[in-house]
Amino acid sequence: MTDPQQVLADRVRDALGAAFGDDYADSDPVIRPSQFADYQSNAALPLAKKLKKRPRDVADEIVARLDLAGIADAPEVSGPGFINLTLSDGWIADQATAVGDDPRLGVPAASDPETVVIEYSSPNIAKEMHVGHLRTTIVGDALARIFEFAGHNVIRDNHVGDWGTPYGMLIEHLIDVGEDSPDARLLRTDPNTFYAAARRKFDSDPGFADRARGRIVKLQAGTDPETRRLWEELVGLSKAYLRDIYGLLRVTLTDDDIRGESFYNHMLADVASELTDKGIAVVSDGALCAFPPGFPGRDGNPLPVIIRKSDGGWNYSSTDLATVKYRVDKMNPGRVLYVVGSEQALHFKMIFATAKLAGWLADGSRFEHAQIGMVQGKDGGRLKTREGDTPKLSALLSESVERARAILDEVEGLDAEAKDAIAEDVGIGALKYADLSTARDSTYTFDFDRMITFKGDTGPYLQYATARIRSIFRRAGIDETTVTGPIVVTEKAERDLALKLLSFGAAISGVIETSEPHRLCGYVFELASLFTTFYEHCPVLKADDETRRSRLALCAATLRVVTGALGLLGVPIPERMLAPVPVPSDSPVSNDSNWPTLPAGCTVVVSAVR
Ligand code: ARG
Repeated sequence: MTDPQQVLADRVRDALGAAFGDDYADSDPVIRPSQFADYQSNAALPLAKKLKKRPRDVADEIVARLDLAGIADAPEVSGPGFINLTLSDGWIADQATAVGDDPRLGVPAASDPETVVIEYSSPNIAKEMHVGHLRTTIVGDALARIFEFAGHNVIRDNHVGDWGTPYGMLIEHLIDVGEDSPDARLLRTDPNTFYAAARRKFDSDPGFADRARGRIVKLQAGTDPETRRLWEELVGLSKAYLRDIYGLLRVTLTDDDIRGESFYNHMLADVASELTDKGIAVVSDGALCAFPPGFPGRDGNPLPVIIRKSDGGWNYSSTDLATVKYRVDKMNPGRVLYVVGSEQALHFKMIFATAKLAGWLADGSRFEHAQIGMVQGKDGGRLKTREGDTPKLSALLSESVERARAILDEVEGLDAEAKDAIAEDVGIGALKYADLSTARDSTYTFDFDRMITFKGDTGPYLQYATARIRSIFRRAGIDETTVTGPIVVTEKAERDLALKLLSFGAAISGVIETSEPHRLCGYVFELASLFTTFYEHCPVLKADDETRRSRLALCAATLRVVTGALGLLGVPIPERMLAPVPVPSDSPVSNDSNWPTLPAGCTVVVSAVR
């Protein structure tokens, strides 16, 4: 075990048992980072109350039994009864060496692996993804990678909206323009334009609207093969659009992860009758509704979950109830994360409450809405273009890449061609990192100026940090993948950096507990900042032989952890800055260093720089 906080917690717990008996061996050792030492244990304060003793005396008793041989210096009691804990330089150095040499970088695989369903992205097909979907896509993908690395069995689930009344209108429009026409191809490249054209006709041409209504009846009845084929054609084109976007974003979702709303369609009638039989669903104003307790409307009456509309049609909630049941029955998950916008919080609370009433979800079952905050423009309002329109996702992505190309001019030692090639990784990486490093449930201001810069807590800063470390090895003519410890710690900057390396695993556990990837961003940014300080204070290549060897090992370990963390976040590391690194298959560092290559069709988005 390398995480100092845990190592110290175990030792303090042992001391508690030894000092006060087995009843106390499980008490919280309350280990916290400290201003005066590396950590402090505040365990004496709550215990003093129970034991009816003075906190300082309790602290003294703990210290008398505390065995920290080989780990820390002699502990000191301070203030009302804090125990200050200062790790020994030798222990830190040995543990940092172990992290650097370990293919899992000191992160143990989960001892109790679970099946974790992570639902994310979930755009509506035949429409352009918007910035809200962009955020659920990026955050969800990071969570999927991190849970997987932690040893869990992750099921990615893309709950796309692919069912409902608009498909009648879209199918008729597809027939009108011709399946092989350039207009049909808009579904792949610019779905909103296709959608808007269909909508205009629907609103202005009563004949077309009639056809659309007839078509939706046929689609939902499921009896007309031609209608089904046309719908599949639409969905297929939309999937191709999503593949392009996911490819460019380096998002790991594939077609196989798509279980859209249509997937649950054949289960809806059974869900409705089960809920009716159980007395949970009742007809109210002609609609079949559940009224889970605890959700009063403005008038004080309970709010309904509408399971079947009064016209007999199904809706968003019907599908979500069937989805809960399907996931419980077929996937047997330990945990299910719904990475979806916070504006749907009430919907999910009511769905989960209804599923509990139905007995599908046990008390304490972990169906969690991992809320994603809104994305807003710099003025605090809706994100919009200069003309006031909602920006197209592809336009945002290409602007990010263009701006990245412009700031790469600040980087020395690369020619223009190399800069063109890496602009995409930097632009996409900047955008993703900005999304990821903001607490996922807080409102987020989309601001290119803040995300695309080498200064501060940004993707480009971290990408550049890896390039700087690599350049040290390049200058020394050393293949960094062959570098191993021992790391020795003498300077403060070395100690701070080495100590930080030990809590990569704690940062990952923090993400697993809370499903908040920004915790890993915070960690990797602190690590990179400590590297910068180290690099300013401690010469590497000019140091004497022994120091140089240790510092190179410290650089290599840092590089492995930073690239590992960025890999888990899904932030690409520019290919040209990235030498091929052979790494074991269970390492978080992508082996080929070539992130998913761009699928054909992506040129639309990246043409700006190619
Ligand atoms: N397609 C929906 C939207 O764009 C999001 C789906 C969220 N997931 C769910 N199980 N309802 O708003």
